[in-house]
This record gives sequence, C-alpha cells and structure tokens, in this order.
Amino acid sequence: MKTIDLRSDTVTLPSPEMRQAIAEAELGDDVFGDDPTVNRLEAMAAEVMGKDAALLTTSGTQSNLAAMLAHCQRGDEVIVGDEAHILHYEAGGAFALGGLGLRPVRNDDQGRLDLGEVRSAIRGHDVHFPPTGLVCLENTHNRCGGSVLSEDDLAAVRRLADEYGLPVHLDGARLFNAAVALGVHVSRLARYVDSVAFSLCKGLACPVGSVLCGSGEFIARARRFRKMLGGGMRQAGIIAAAGVYALENMVDRLAEDHENARLLAEGLSSIPGISLAPPPQSDLVFFTAKGWDLEELVGRLGERGVLCLDEGGRIRMVTHYGIERRDVEEALVRVRELMAAGA
Ligand SMILES: Cc1ncc(COP(=O)(O)O)c(C=O)c1O
Repeated sequence: MKTIDLRSDTVTLPSPEMRQAIAEAELGDDVFGDDPTVNRLEAMAAEVMGKDAALLTTSGTQSNLAAMLAHCQRGDEVIVGDEAHILHYEAGGAFALGGLGLRPVRNDDQGRLDLGEVRSAIRGHDVHFPPTGLVCLENTHNRCGGSVLSEDDLAAVRRLADEYGLPVHLDGARLFNAAVALGVHVSRLARYVDSVAFSLCKGLACPVGSVLCGSGEFIARARRFRKMLGGGMRQAGIIAAAGVYALENMVDRLAEDHENARLLAEGLSSIPGISLAPPPQSDLVFFTAKGWDLEELVGRLGERGVLCLDEGGRIRMVTHYGIERRDVEEALVRVRELMAAGA
C-alpha cells in the first residue's frame, strides 16, 4: 500500500534534477561571502521580489526572527495577527531571544488584520508604553486555511503603517502560492512591504531553507542577526543550489497543487459527516468530521496509509510536489471507506 503523505508541503523530497543541481553546485564559504551559488540565489530572490537584497536562512522561523530583530529595538512591540504563525508556532523566539513583545490583533477568516484593531494597537509616545516597532502580515495564511491576501489587502495595511511611520514585514512562507492563486507576479505582493520571507522548503520542494528580502541596509542588519542565531552556514551553496533550481522550475507547478487541493476538498465535502473548514484557496485543506474524535481519525487514516494532521479541532491535508491527482483520488477512496465503516 502506497503511503500518501498529506501532512505538510514540507515533506517534499528533491526531484532528481534538483539533486543533480545540488551535486554540481559551485561552493565557497558563505560566511566570508564567497559562495557563488548562495550569492546567485540571493540575487535571484531579491530580483524576483523586487527588493535590493536577500539573505538565505536556515528556516522560515529564522527569517522571521532575524527580520523582527533587524526592524526593531529590544523592548519594542510587534503587531501580529492572532492566528499568525509567528505567534503560535515559532517557539516564542521574539519574546525569548529578541526581547520583543508580540501584540496580537484579530485575523479575519481570510487572514486579514482588523485594521481598526491595528490602529488601536499602535502605541502613542507616552513613556508608559512599549514602542510599536513593526507590523507583520502572513500570505498565504496558514491557520486561516491557506487563505490569500490580495493586493488591496496588503495596500490597506501599507497605508495604515505609513500613517505611523511603521515598517511592515511579510511572512510569505507560501507567498508564491499566493501569487499563483491570484495570477500575479510575486513582486506585486512584495511591493507593499519592507521585508518579505519566503520558504524554499515548502511548496518549492527544496530540502531546507528560506530567503529574507528587503533593502540593502536591512539585509546587512539581518545578516548579523542570522549569525547571532547560529545561521551563518559555510558551503551553503549545497542548499542554495536547490533554491536556484526551485525559483527557475518549481514556481509555476504550484498551480497543480492548488488544483489537487480543490479536487481533494471537493471529494472530502461529498463524504457524509465531513465539512470543509474553510474551502481551500491554495494548497492547504482543512476539514472537520462529525461524530469523530479527530485524533483517532488521523490515527486510523494513518493505518490506511493516508497521513494528515490533527490541528486542534480540524484535520489538515496539504497537496504538494510528489502528490499526483491519482494520489488524491486514492486518498479519497481510503477516507470514504473508513468513514463509511463508522467511528
Ligand atoms: C506561514 C508560515 N510561516 C513560517 C513558517 C516557518 O517555517 P520553518 O518551518 O521553515 O521554520 C511556516 C512553517 O510551516 C509557516 O507555515
């Protein structure tokens, strides 16, 4: 029985061509700035995002933390959505390592920040208050179901931040998914923010890495923080080569993942007891199953070779490179059979 791993788009394995690119990568010591493949990836990433400079990091978590540190001073407050990955899943690095406060404001089900709440959360100059240092956005939005922020959504936050002279950072771990879903070039989404981090190791199917992009001065500061966080890597061209390959070859195919997610969602919603929570907009599919303990359902699906995650009251399935249409169809057969057999 084939295992169909729908837990995350991070479970992707590099394609034979990507492995070849890794094997043939020209290398140097990147901490000395000498790795030509890292330099190439950073130049490509800056260009595709329409920014001046870029920095390869070990992970999305490291990119986001380096970005917060580079934008803010110790003691500042960072405005984030109450469903933000930075708030929920990054081990509290902003508090623990950065001396930064995270100030949550409401995300709607589309992953947008409530602009009224953002405005009230921005601190005045009274000495009692911690200064507001940064506003963070997420696109696509993980906990809001892989939802996509439009250009209008991003522009509205930009305008508000500009009123107060605040920088905006975008956690764009899946920004290419957002661009593909909207049918726009990714730079159109990045132009509303001062800095953007995108993941190599999710839909782009690289084994590791993330890239942070922004102004030259910002990236120089972030580079020092990356070093402090243990992310100064030596012959990192091994990693960057996969990123270069991915930027050239793995972006457009994200549309297939979205199509497979739509197919999966359609099939799931036709199974009695299953409700989508919400319908997918990109590669993430969330659903509930009436009458089932979800942890048990995930376990029983696992026994049938369909791997997914129980994400606190919802099950998450993610389509990605390595999951074909026939895998989605097979997964649906197995879910349907299990559900028909009953809890
Ligand atoms: C929206 C978002 N931001 C950041 C991250 C963190 O990325 P990493 O796992 O590479 O640290 C993730 C990981 O799933 C994510 O979904």
